[in-house]
This record gives sequence, structure tokens and C-alpha cells, in this order.
Amino acid sequence: MPPVKMRGVSKPKDTKKVFSRLIAYMGTFKFLWILIIFFVFLSSGAEIASSYMVKPILNDYIIPLVGAESPDFVPLIFVLIKTGFLFLFGVLASWGNGRLILYISSNLLCKIRKDLFKSLENLPVKYFEKHPHGELMSRFTSDTDTLRDMFSQTVPQFMTSAVTVLGVFVMMIVLSPLLTFSVLAILASMIFLGIFLGKRSASSFREQQKNIGILNGYIEEMIEGQKVVKVFSQEEKVIEKFKLLNNSLYKSAARANSYGNMLGPVMINLSHVQYALVSVLGAFLVITSIHDIGTIAAFLQYTRNFTRPVTMISQLFNSILNALAGAERIFELIDETEEVDEGRITLVNAAFTEEKLVQAYDYTGNWAWKDNVDNSLRQMKGDVLFENVSFGYRKEKEILHNISIHAYPGQKIALVGSTGSGKTTVINLLARFFDIEEGKGKIFFDGIPIKEISKDGIRHSLGMVLQDTHFFTGTIYDNIKYGNLDAGFEEVKKAAELANADHFINHLKLGYETVLSADGENLSQGQRQLLSIARAAVLNPPILVLDEATSSVDTRTEKMIQSGMDKLMKGRTVFVIAHRLSTVRNADEIIVLDHGSIIERGNHEFLMQKKGRYFELYTGGSNSFDF
Ligand SMILES: Nc1ncnc2c1ncn2[C@@H]1O[C@H](COP(=O)(O)OP(=O)(O)OP(=O)(O)O)[C@@H](O)[C@H]1O
Ligand SMILES: [Mg+2]
Repeated sequence: MPPVKMRGVSKPKDTKKVFSRLIAYMGTFKFLWILIIFFVFLSSGAEIASSYMVKPILNDYIIPLVGAESPDFVPLIFVLIKTGFLFLFGVLASWGNGRLILYISSNLLCKIRKDLFKSLENLPVKYFEKHPHGELMSRFTSDTDTLRDMFSQTVPQFMTSAVTVLGVFVMMIVLSPLLTFSVLAILASMIFLGIFLGKRSASSFREQQKNIGILNGYIEEMIEGQKVVKVFSQEEKVIEKFKLLNNSLYKSAARANSYGNMLGPVMINLSHVQYALVSVLGAFLVITSIHDIGTIAAFLQYTRNFTRPVTMISQLFNSILNALAGAERIFELIDETEEVDEGRITLVNAAFTEEKLVQAYDYTGNWAWKDNVDNSLRQMKGDVLFENVSFGYRKEKEILHNISIHAYPGQKIALVGSTGSGKTTVINLLARFFDIEEGKGKIFFDGIPIKEISKDGIRHSLGMVLQDTHFFTGTIYDNIKYGNLDAGFEEVKKAAELANADHFINHLKLGYETVLSADGENLSQGQRQLLSIARAAVLNPPILVLDEATSSVDTRTEKMIQSGMDKLMKGRTVFVIAHRLSTVRNADEIIVLDHGSIIERGNHEFLMQKKGRYFELYTGGSNSFDF
């Protein structure tokens, strides 16, 4: 008998709801489940029948041979072969069952993972800020693992156990009600003991699980922060803290397992006692001629088949509860509200034929806003208007106050201001990473309210070089191409040249085929920026957004980027954020932000003449801004 382990159980909040949701998922395989149930009955039936065979074999085939003068073994051999076939039949049925279950469980998990990832990709940026990445990852790892165990092991075991227990119980009653009663009495005491010990260990198990979580979190954080730990020589302290956490885990694990480990042997021994008692009682019944030997032998066989599944059921039940709790967390993420996109206007390639704007299906260098309701086209010019926009990431704290900016087609708008003044926030609104609340101002693209444009349309119109450059594992070529998957090698190379990234790429041993490690860590900060500019350039976007694009490069490289960007910016509307004022000098309008408000605006000459904040900054007269 397997040792019975009581695990800490995390229960689902709404068992019924998760359960019906899972049933809905399983609904696709209705026919296969029916087949599985059929197989379960077959294999359990074969097991019960072959155990029953002990009775006729003993009574009708073996006992008559005892002491016979010329025993005829042929009938015995026949009946043994028949029983063998029964066994074989049972084995085949459970093998078939196993295959079916494997097929269903891998399919279900594949589907659940797909739904999970799809939902993840469609969540708004806001969601990721609220939820730690580790927590989201665990939906894909531990939660799906417990679910897989449930589908592939627990549920089939549960079904087989339930059917076997019922069948065996009926057979035991048929064979001997008296012995059945004695088995039940001992079993009840075993279950009682199991619950008693289980309760004691359950709370320690929960504590152990919690401590495992804390320890893992700590290890993960320290691996990520290795460099910082080393820079500040905190190794000793980190090890000390680890020792503390490790110790609490050790203690709770020891407590939890002391009961758990006791439970197994106690149960096994009790089942032996039960077997011995039934044997003694059976022998007594045979002696008093109430039962024959065959009946007792078959009954003893059933005793084993009965006790094992019953003592396992509580364990199975706990794993099912655990898996349901995992499933609930998975469904929570799947059901998370997707990024709402009520925009009906998209961005399409366009061309002029006989002065008339028409939709084109290849890249033309011209774009149009297409209204998907009436199919009308409007030329995309790159006119961007912020009208009295106020915004806060959280309701209680407004970050931007009454911002109005008008970028005419082809204009270069520079946003400057100290750290935290709201520059990136302006860009977040422009790209619709966050939406403006009703009544808190509006943003227009070529006169169209931003909310009417699909997010996809907006993001296609923007070439963005974000403050935090991020790359995917893959070659440099693939990473640049990410900006426009239709681009060929020529276009990728041209974009890299434009961004002045071509030079350093050619110096790499494998050139464009150099594989970037996670997040492009094998490049310098400046190289990463050049690369992200190339990635934006390859899209050839009508509007360009550059957030701190030149903050991490030396002056020479900065000049190179500058000339690259000047080429890139030609004929486009550009929003540029830079800490270095030299890079924004030639902007058509410079907007000076302070604590989320515009305090000055105008071109370089105007602002210099005004001798206000910008002048102070430019001439280094103030320390209040760290440009
Ligand atoms: N995702 C966010 N959730 C909540 N608050 C945020 C978020 N991002 C920024 N903030 C807050 O909004 C304010 C403006 O931040 P923003 O990133 O726009 O500044 P910035 O001008 O780009 O600064 P920097 O020059 O350092 O990049 C800051 O006070 C910051 O704390
Ligand atoms: Mg910023």
C-alpha cells in the first residue's frame, strides 16, 4: 500500500465554477471520455472477476484433487488459462485507458496554455505593472503542472478507485456480510487515524509550502541582482539571510514530514493487522462450516483491493482540490479583461492615382486612415494634437496637468524637463499604452480622436525608440526586422545605415547574424540604442518617437546618431525627449515640462531670448534641472 501523504491544500474559491469551466474544456473530448469510462469499468470488472476466480479454482478444481488417486490436472489448467485471459483483458483495458488519457491531457493543456498566452499578449500595459512577472510565470509552470497531474493521474485513479471500491464492496457483501462488517470496522478506525494525523500535518505542510515560496523568491531575486550584491560587497549578509530562510524551511519541513512519515507506516501496519484479523475470522468461519475455503480466499483478495483505494481517496481528493485552485488562477488570467479597443479606424498603405487617394496593398511610403465602417480614406499627414490633457496612472494622483501640444505634419517637437516631470507619460498616452479618462482632454491624429483609431493603427503609425531598449533572443538581423516583418535584407541594412548602426554591426565577427543573448546583453548600452533606432527606422513610420535615444552614448556616437536621426526625421512628425539640450536645439517647438505642467514653450532662439527656465538650463544657470 502506498504511504498516504497529507499535503497542504490550497482550495479554490469557487469550486463549482472552476469545475464546470474544466468540464467545458473537456467537452471537446466527450466521446473519448465515454470510452475512458467504459475502459475503467472493463479493467475494474476484470480485476474483480479475476479475484473472484480464486473461489471456484480452490473449491471446484484444487480441493477435489487433494488426496485423489489419479488427479486430472487438465480442467485446472484450463480454468487457470481462462483466469489469465481475464487478467490480460484487464491489463489491455487499463493500457488503452492510459493512452487515451495521455492524449486528452496533453491536448487540454496545449489548449489551456494557448488561451493563457493569448490572454497575456492582449492585456493592457497597466496589468503587467500591477503583477510581478514571477507570479504570472507560475501560471504557466506550477499551476499547469498540477493541472496536468490531475488530468493524467489523479482523475483516472479516482475513477478507477471509485468503480473498484464499489464493485469490490458488492462482491464482499455477496461473499460474506459478516466479514465485510469486520473489514469496515477496521477501515473506519484507519480513516479516523488518517484524518487525525493528516490534520496535524496539513497546517505544517501549508507552512512548508509558504516557506518554499519565500526561499525561491529570495534565490531568484539574488540571482537577478548578483551584480548589485557584488558591487556593494553584500555577499555575507545575503548568505546570512539565506541561512535564516533556509532554516525556517527546514524546521517546517521536518514538522510536516514527521506526521506525514508516521502516517504511511501506521497505515501499512494497520492494513496488515486487518488482513490477519480477517484471516483468523475466516478460518473460524471455515471451521464452523459457515463458509468454504474458496470464499475466504477470494474475500481476502478483495480485502486488499478494498482498503488500498479507500485510503488513497483522501489523498486524491486533496490533489484535485490543489489542481482546481491552480486552474482557478489560470482561468482568472484567461478571463482578465483584454485591452479594450473600440477604435474603428486603421492605418493602411495608400497611393495617389489621378490625384485621388486609394488604398494600396504594398508599401508605398504613403499612408491613409481607413474607416472600417464606411471604408472612407483620409490621408495620414502626421498632425498630432494634445488638447488640454490631464492624466494620472492612479486616480488619486494626477501626473500631467492640462497639456496642450500641436505638432504639425513634419514638425519636430522636443520634450524637456527634469526626471519625473512627465515626458515618458506624454509618450505613453500618444501610443495609447494608457487611455485618457473621459473629460480629461483629448488627443487627435490628423483631426481624428485617438479613441476612434485602433491601437494597432496608432502603433503602426509610430516608430518608437523607447527609454528601456528591449531585444529578443535572435540575430541582430531578426531584431531589426522586428519593426517591419515584410522588410528584406536590403531594407534592414538601409535602416541600420540610417541609424549609423551598420558600422558597429559590420565589426562584429558574425555581422548581422550575431545572436543577441537575452535582452541584448552582449551589446553596449550605446549599441543597443543604435539598434533600437534601426528597428524603428525599418518600419519607415510617419511619426517618430524618440525617448532618451541618445542618453547612453559618447559625444562622438551621439553626433553619429544625431546625423542618422536627422536623416530619419526628414518629412516626419517627431517627438523627441532628450536630456542633452544640444540634441533638441533644432526642434520646431521645445516644450519645457515641470511637475507635469508646461512651463515654457517655443523654439530655441525664442526661449533663449526669453531668458526663462530654458535659458537658465542651457547656460547652466540652474541646478534645479538635471538635463
Ligand atoms: N507606470 C507608472 N505607474 C505609476 N506612476 C508612474 C508610472 N510611470 C511613471 N509614473 C510616475 O509619473 C511621473 C512621471 O514619470 P515619467 O516617466 O513620465 O517621467 P520622465 O519625465 O519620463 O522622467 P525621466 O526623465 O526620468 O525619464 C513620475 O512621478 C513617476 O513616478
Ligand atoms: Mg522618461
